[in-house]
Amino acid sequence: MKCMSEDESAAVGEPTPEIASEVFGDRLPVAERYADILVQQGVLRGLIGPRELPQLWTRHLLNCAVLSEVIDDSETVIDIGSGAGLPGIPLAVARPDLEITLIEPLLRRTTFLDEVVEGLHLGNVTVIRGRAEEKAVLKQVRPADVVTSRAVAPLERLARWSAPLIRGGGRLVALKGQSAADEIARDWEKVMRFGIRDLTVEQCGTMLETPTTLIVGRRNESARDARAARRAARKN
Ligand SMILES: C[S@@+](CC[C@H](N)C(=O)[O-])C[C@H]1O[C@@H](n2cnc3c(N)ncnc32)[C@H](O)[C@@H]1O
Repeated sequence: MKCMSEDESAAVGEPTPEIASEVFGDRLPVAERYADILVQQGVLRGLIGPRELPQLWTRHLLNCAVLSEVIDDSETVIDIGSGAGLPGIPLAVARPDLEITLIEPLLRRTTFLDEVVEGLHLGNVTVIRGRAEEKAVLKQVRPADVVTSRAVAPLERLARWSAPLIRGGGRLVALKGQSAADEIARDWEKVMRFGIRDLTVEQCGTMLETPTTLIVGRRNESARDARAARRAARKN
């Protein structure tokens, strides 16, 4: 999947599709405000490509919000490499019960994310500037029930960065496209070294024209396993 900021040609915004009210429920007006911010500022500030605007809902906001289907009540979520807020912001809008931390290294992007969080009054979102694998970041966050990512890195690297941020027994949930099964076939042995197993390809948002394809993996339970995974992540 392409980073939204890589596109460069001009385009216009997409009207709110009907299905959006099913996905966001009574939070739809907040999702619409986020869409407006992306349309008005995302391109200007180099955070999204203009070509993404006509598919802002169908390819981005809805595909990210339906992640909600694989996240239980009141779980904690860390979203690594959030960019302009995907998938973390649509998820936080749709699910105020979740506590979501967005980890993003680029100042331009974290400044934007801070503004979105404040502007939309998202009391359930914290923004941290840094790389997921940095010690300073690991010190600031408690391992979460779920670590999400979209368009950030190939599976092996993603597992290396995500593992120390997932609590024992928690899940890695990576939004992937058609490459999902191939990535698992290629990387599963390395991923196991980081203490993540039971990798599966899942789909959510089957009511959407293009459902979201996920790689889901489970973090080992024990503290000893967790320490071994941290050591493996440091070595690689
Ligand atoms: C291709 S963009 C995807 C952004 C967003 N997830 C989306 O789907 O639109 C990749 C993002 O990952 C961030 N990133 C790259 N390396 C990272 C790391 N080690 N830890 C956290 N974020 C990282 C980049 O700064 C960038 O914002």
